[in-house]
Amino acid sequence: MASITPLREFVEAFTALIDRNEGQERILDQGAVLLRSLIAHDRWLPEQFARPDPERYSQYLLHADPYGRFSVVSFVWGPGQTTPLHDHRVWGLIGILRGREREESYTRTGAGFVLEAEEILEPGHVGLLRPGERDYHRVSNALADETSLSIHVYGANIGAVARATYDIETGQEKIFISGYSSDVVPNLWDLTK
Ligand SMILES: [Fe+2]
Repeated sequence: MASITPLREFVEAFTALIDRNEGQERILDQGAVLLRSLIAHDRWLPEQFARPDPERYSQYLLHADPYGRFSVVSFVWGPGQTTPLHDHRVWGLIGILRGREREESYTRTGAGFVLEAEEILEPGHVGLLRPGERDYHRVSNALADETSLSIHVYGANIGAVARATYDIETGQEKIFISGYSSDVVPNLWDLTK
């Protein structure tokens, strides 16, 4: 049976990194190393946090720091699913675990947004989000017939952050708080498994 140990060790190491309190750039730098190592293997994520929903992309909470300093989430895209253009307002790390994701990064202009870069992200890739700098993107499953899945870490309890989606043409902002797709989190703490 697959073991959840890599996720527990990741949470422990990330908590230690946050405890060192060395600032955003150090967290992104060292956090990327930790995330790269977590997604180098794909045997640790319980199936119920990897399940696509036919209606919309899913966002499963894997761990939330009790002080709200970071959260770990699995994002699951069924074939053809996409997010609207949105922002995050906190730092973020995105690590691709399965499939292929298309990330379109946008810049704000006078009225609306313009496409700045488009990338196809493959398993093993780790990308960074910085509030106020490179914070607007739209992400979709680049595969027409398979699920894509990524592991994200954010500098807050991301499901509780008031942030926004945007109309690309008009720039119109709509505030949202995402919540999570499941009421349960994985049990990291049964050390007999
Ligand atoms: Fe995002």
